[in-house]
Amino acid sequence: APITTPDISTCKASVDGFFNLKDRVRTNACCPPLPPPTVKSVKKHVLPKCEPVRLRPAAHRVTPEYLDKYQRAMAAMRALPDEDPHSFVQQAKIHCAYCNGGYFQEGYPNKELQVHNCWLFFPFHRWYLYFFERILGKLIDDPTFGLPYWNWDNPSGMSMPAFFEGKILDPNTRELNPAFDAFRNVEHLPPAILDIDFNNAASADFTCVQQIGSNLSLMYKQMITNSPNSATFFGGEYKAGDDPISLQNSKGPIESGVHTAAHIWVGNPRMPNNEDMGNFYSSGWDPLFYTHHANVDRMWKIWKDLKGPEYPDHTEPTDPDWLDASYVFYDENKELVRVYNKDCVQMENLHYEYEPSPLPWLKSRP
Ligand code: C2O
Repeated sequence: APITTPDISTCKASVDGFFNLKDRVRTNACCPPLPPPTVKSVKKHVLPKCEPVRLRPAAHRVTPEYLDKYQRAMAAMRALPDEDPHSFVQQAKIHCAYCNGGYFQEGYPNKELQVHNCWLFFPFHRWYLYFFERILGKLIDDPTFGLPYWNWDNPSGMSMPAFFEGKILDPNTRELNPAFDAFRNVEHLPPAILDIDFNNAASADFTCVQQIGSNLSLMYKQMITNSPNSATFFGGEYKAGDDPISLQNSKGPIESGVHTAAHIWVGNPRMPNNEDMGNFYSSGWDPLFYTHHANVDRMWKIWKDLKGPEYPDHTEPTDPDWLDASYVFYDENKELVRVYNKDCVQMENLHYEYEPSPLPWLKSRP
């Protein structure tokens, strides 16, 4: 049977212990607010029918007009009261609840629900970003608003996008930068180049040119060599009743590779739990998380669109236990809705697309 997110009222009040969180700087109370008692059941989300397509731009080359929208939307989200399902705090907690054992699987009251290390990784984060983006668009009344993506697979986008840096936007008004997060590794601010192989222990002593070359060939390896079919690209099967602990080694190459490396590279190694990006429970507190994951999501689309005899099996899983797995989110109207993997397979149906960017790694076969 498919993994099913339970009624959110059964969410665990705190997630201490799961990853031996010590001296936390973010809350471990990660449950969403409950809907009003008049709401008896969670509706199935209805995909948008007639609305404009949102264009997700590459973060390193956004226009001033776009940046202004992004900053207004993020500032508005941060200004909402914490209990509001649309607040940045609640959005951040979603990651903690789904990734640090906030939920037990429906029907399995002692099996935690974990969306990482398995084939739920891509679809869960696709839905998470989808609602995050729609909420931001609603806050600035712009149905065309799309999230920026961190284009780390292209040499011109391999540094942290510039507008995430700096606490203050304008020294005169002292206006805060809503994309800033205090818990990042300051050694990795621009112009440092992401190391796609980064794991905190030892890092290769590359020049920037070597680092870019290494990143491109690793992208090839993760997207092509090690991802010939759905079983490899998406990660291991995870079905109702499975123990998430047994899944430590069944991450797909993108999840275990560039995705995790960027998390650890951005997080602050001097914080007790590598906050924010270096730990599941705190990742959602860094606005860069959503821009990082937009590019992870873009990799799914790019991988799927690689057609031809070299790529015969670039398709999604067809097992009903993958297709029918479901999660629960608050939508842009603050309604609690259930969404299924099968409904996010066709990205077009979600009405967003990625601004194209060249894929030099496709020619970087190691
Ligand atoms: Cu839910 Cu990048 O992790």
